Amino acid sequence: MATDAEDKSEAAGEAKDDAKTAEGLKSLYLIRDRRSIREFTGEKIPDDHIEMILEAARHAPSPENMLMIRFVVIRDDQDMKVFLADIAQEMAQTAFGGAPFELTSGRNWFISDPYRAAVYARLRDGELFRYPEKSDAVIIVCASEMWHDAGYQYPNELFGSVVAGMAIQNMWLVATELGYGCGYEALVCSDPRHAMLIRDRLGIPPTWTPLTAFCIGKRISPRALGPSRPPLEGLMYEERWGKPYKRLAFKKG
Ligand SMILES: Cc1cc2nc3c(=O)[nH]c(=O)nc-3n(C[C@H](O)[C@H](O)[C@H](O)COP(=O)(O)O)c2cc1C
Repeated sequence: MATDAEDKSEAAGEAKDDAKTAEGLKSLYLIRDRRSIREFTGEKIPDDHIEMILEAARHAPSPENMLMIRFVVIRDDQDMKVFLADIAQEMAQTAFGGAPFELTSGRNWFISDPYRAAVYARLRDGELFRYPEKSDAVIIVCASEMWHDAGYQYPNELFGSVVAGMAIQNMWLVATELGYGCGYEALVCSDPRHAMLIRDRLGIPPTWTPLTAFCIGKRISPRALGPSRPPLEGLMYEERWGKPYKRLAFKKG
């Protein structure tokens, strides 16, 4: 049981000692454990688990707590899921179908031989992206830049999409902790003609922009950890642009 002193220090926002290392931090563990999963069993997820995941979305930070995001949660409409899978596959064929093997192969270096060729084949014919049809919940995430009380526009590029991204990440982490898989299917919304069809079928008003189909399902297996990310010095600069961040490990000694 926690002592009074522990209760107080936690209430004051001080992490316990074992949580102050990268290994001890639960949040960092979950963040690293989260993966894009694109293979689902097609089984149902209990309603209360889905609701826990949705609950995480509404805690996203947003400017003035406006939460300029809305979610259409599709669970029963299998025709809609297949429709989305068809769009995703068509788009993937356009995006990846003609890319030279060496380029995609180089980008996917973390997939070891002989699996890389098989993954590439599924990428190329778009089959890899049909996962909405096997998901339990497909959430169409929408953002708006023009619905709120401000007399000027809050561009989605700076606000709504960012809030949506934070809400999605919240859901993704909770789903990961519950042992489910998630896939972020932006392919279905990226061509405005497809987005228009999705609007029509779901009744999304013109002031709201569908951004993605966020898919949650029972995963066939957890994806192997990775792809690894570039080291900090590959992404961050120190004090000014162009001066790579130097990790503590390299600063010591
Ligand atoms: C804005 C955005 C768009 C994405 N678009 C797609 C997509 O259309 N289809 C898909 O399967 N994954 C998509 N992803 C997932 C990425 O491919 C994935 O996050 C990346 O390869 C890293 O793998 P990880 O999520 O397992 O760490 C997208 C992710 C983001 C944040």
